[in-house]
Amino acid sequence: MSENIIQLKNISKTFVTDKGEFKALEDINLDISRGSIYGIIGMSGAGKSTLVRCINYLEVPTEGSVVIDGKELGSLTEKGLREERKSIGMIFQHFNLLQQKNVIDNVSFPLRINGVNKKDAHKRAAELLEIVGLADKANSYPVQLSGGQQQRVAIARALAGNPKILLCDEATSALDPQTTKSILELLKNINEKYGITIVIITHQMAVVREICSHVAVISKGHIVENGEVSDVFSRPKTKEARELIMLESGENTWYNESSEDDNCVRIVFTENSAYEPVISNMIKKFNCDVSIYQADTKKINGKTTGEMIIGLPKDEELSRQLKDYLTEKGIIVEEAR
Ligand SMILES: Nc1ncnc2c1ncn2[C@@H]1O[C@H](COP(=O)(O)OP(=O)(O)OP(=O)(O)O)[C@@H](O)[C@H]1O
Ligand SMILES: [Mg+2]
Repeated sequence: MSENIIQLKNISKTFVTDKGEFKALEDINLDISRGSIYGIIGMSGAGKSTLVRCINYLEVPTEGSVVIDGKELGSLTEKGLREERKSIGMIFQHFNLLQQKNVIDNVSFPLRINGVNKKDAHKRAAELLEIVGLADKANSYPVQLSGGQQQRVAIARALAGNPKILLCDEATSALDPQTTKSILELLKNINEKYGITIVIITHQMAVVREICSHVAVISKGHIVENGEVSDVFSRPKTKEARELIMLESGENTWYNESSEDDNCVRIVFTENSAYEPVISNMIKKFNCDVSIYQADTKKINGKTTGEMIIGLPKDEELSRQLKDYLTEKGIIVEEAR
């Protein structure tokens, strides 16, 4: 058994349109280890949906190979591919339930089309509804359910074929924060209890912080950065990653408030060091002005992390000394723009 349940090797995808060719993905390499919860983030149009659709061959890559649990999808027969796809479940932003079928028939549907008889399919579907906490809604119709409940039905349906992998394309984007939290808890639970590897596309950074172990940042069809969430979020190396991660913090309000001349930096406290004393000690020591535009603490994978956007003095030399001082105190310092 390969440790990497999903391997994308040199994947490119070119769409041919009336206006010519469009390269949606270019030379993507990504390994996703078994049992992980892997986030994929990027701006609208970056290629996120195209990328996950390549994982189950809903989209066939123009170049490169997709290897699922050691099997290269491109080398399978039509039948082999159909078989392999059963091990990959998928859920979507708008749930995609069959409106004219009730809940139990929706969940049974993938089993029924694979030839399971109605009695057995309903028995399995009832177990799945139990897992997602909707045992009492078996006979309801999708329109009678809230968004969160509909997504639970979709998750139960995706689990019907005992998948090894669950792909989620903006699965919580249409839900309110509280419902999002409960769906994320359910996904985490499924990941831990059944060892299912989960790939989550999202534009909500909070989703990544909340449950992902790893994250890849995609920009204009390229993966620009990837790794453990705690690393990427506290030390984003690329401009694209920084923009996404900061965009989330107060929608960049600091950007408007800060003076053009300020030397804005983003600082991250990964240790337990209380950050106010460090900043006030620094101000005392160097006898200078430092503006705090934004301060926040967040949990990344259970570890509390402090984050601040501060404006250092214009003076390059002084500003460099302040950055060195912070770095010495074990604080991560990055240019904020
Ligand atoms: N079938 C298609 N034919 C032509 N172009 C396509 C097709 N599917 C996607 N594209 C283009 O590929 C690019 C990536 O699309 P994709 O849907 O993967 O983006 P995304 O990152 O999921 O965006 P969003 O966050 O808005 O969902 C876009 O420019 C899109 O217009
Ligand atoms: Mg998309």
